[in-house]
Amino acid sequence: MKGVVFTEFLDMVESLFGADMIDDIIEDCTLKSGGAYTSVGTYDYEELVLLVTALSKRSDIAVKDLVQKYGHHLFFRFHDMFPTFFEKQNSAFDFLESVHGYVHVEVKKLYPDAALPNFETKNVNENELVMIYRSHCPFSDFAEGLIHGCVEFYDENIEIRVEDKNTKAEFCRVFTLLKH
Ligand code: HEM
Repeated sequence: MKGVVFTEFLDMVESLFGADMIDDIIEDCTLKSGGAYTSVGTYDYEELVLLVTALSKRSDIAVKDLVQKYGHHLFFRFHDMFPTFFEKQNSAFDFLESVHGYVHVEVKKLYPDAALPNFETKNVNENELVMIYRSHCPFSDFAEGLIHGCVEFYDENIEIRVEDKNTKAEFCRVFTLLKH
């Protein structure tokens, strides 16, 4: 997993809980990297799972809630960091439909070793979009947080229903988005 996902996570931890929390959770975990991340480096995604689990224990906030919160936060950070990727889309559905075939394709050009999930979208009608997440990484909650961030970013009234369809081979969550 790209270092930017780690550095942004630790920045969020610092702003929510203070700088000492970063040292505390790094100390709690046995990390191959030693906890020294650079935004262009690449690290084992399991280190992020360990850090979030440590933060959950210390903050008494469920892992799922922390991961979703982080996804939501990261959507707005991505907008600050990569504004050009947001120029062509005018709505949440537009944006979500462009993630797999455009946004993540551009991400891969910037970071050729990025490990990106698979997304399939089905535009059922103008008020309903189905987006299916598939990955070898257990980041369905992270995807959910990003999708919530996207809906808030475009300031639309969209209900998000989720259904897990994990298999032995991969993690899968089906998101059904209903515009009201
Ligand atoms: C709502 C929109 C988006 C969703 C749902 C989404 C979803 C995800 C998920 C779930 C991952 C974790 C990898 C995995 O699960 O296999 C990921 C990785 C990543 N995404 Fe997205 N993403 C979105 C938008 C963006 C945007 C706007 C950018 C940047 C402009 C971006 C850049 C990245 C990067 C850099 C990674 C890390 C790849 C790696 O660690 O190797 N994503 N994305």
